[in-house]
Amino acid sequence: MSIPTTQWTPTHGDPYRPVPYRPERMPAAESLARAAELRERMDRRRTVRQFSADPVPEQVVRDAIACAATAPSGAHQQPWTFVLVKDPEARRRIRRAAEEEERISYEGRLSEEWLAALRPLGTDEVKPHLTDAPALIVVFQQRYWLGEDGDKRKHYYVDESVGIAVGMLLSALHLSGLAALVHTPSPMRFLSEVLGRPANEKAFAVIPVGYPAADCTVPDLVRKSLDQVLKEV
Ligand SMILES: Cc1cc2nc3c(=O)[nH]c(=O)nc-3n(C[C@H](O)[C@H](O)[C@H](O)COP(=O)(O)O)c2cc1C
Repeated sequence: MSIPTTQWTPTHGDPYRPVPYRPERMPAAESLARAAELRERMDRRRTVRQFSADPVPEQVVRDAIACAATAPSGAHQQPWTFVLVKDPEARRRIRRAAEEEERISYEGRLSEEWLAALRPLGTDEVKPHLTDAPALIVVFQQRYWLGEDGDKRKHYYVDESVGIAVGMLLSALHLSGLAALVHTPSPMRFLSEVLGRPANEKAFAVIPVGYPAADCTVPDLVRKSLDQVLKEV
């Protein structure tokens, strides 16, 4: 299947240029069946923190990133960069720096309230997945546009846009049979340095990807029911 390439993308100040959009309408019965199946499949997604060393097909990861990059974004500014980190030394450096930040956090930087919120997840400062998961994606948000000559332009709704893109990335990975973890070491400044990202980019999340280890466990969590999250007025 070939995916149509984008012919044109607006840049700052371009005029509105409408083109027809006529997607085929899905019959309601098919929509219902797909929605029910998707709901059930998505409910099986879990955050994995213990990964198998088995390699993953790299193209699946690239396709999932391509899915994420179809996300809607404020003013279509697409304020994201996904770095697929393959260099083992870069991964070692990320792990060292992340574990150091996490150690400081767990040993006193986090409030009692924050530590209590984390306790049911069983997490600590040891992050083997940063070096051991077969794939590692670091997501950056472009806080503003940075031209080659150094000029800057504001980006709008960056947090929302990148959050939506990461949600789509996680869904694509899960529906393609891979497991992932959203890891947010705090602070994350070291990631820009290790990965050589430009000044307009700020790390958003580190996402190890792979298959769950044979002895993988996850916290026994219950999701809110639909009644609790959906209010129909
Ligand atoms: C924004 C965000 C940040 C997160 N940061 C971390 C993290 O730093 N370390 C970690 O182990 N899990 C992290 N998680 C994973 C959550 O703990 C996990 O999604 C939650 O406990 C629900 O579990 P589930 O994903 O299996 O449904 C994060 C999730 C999100 C959405």
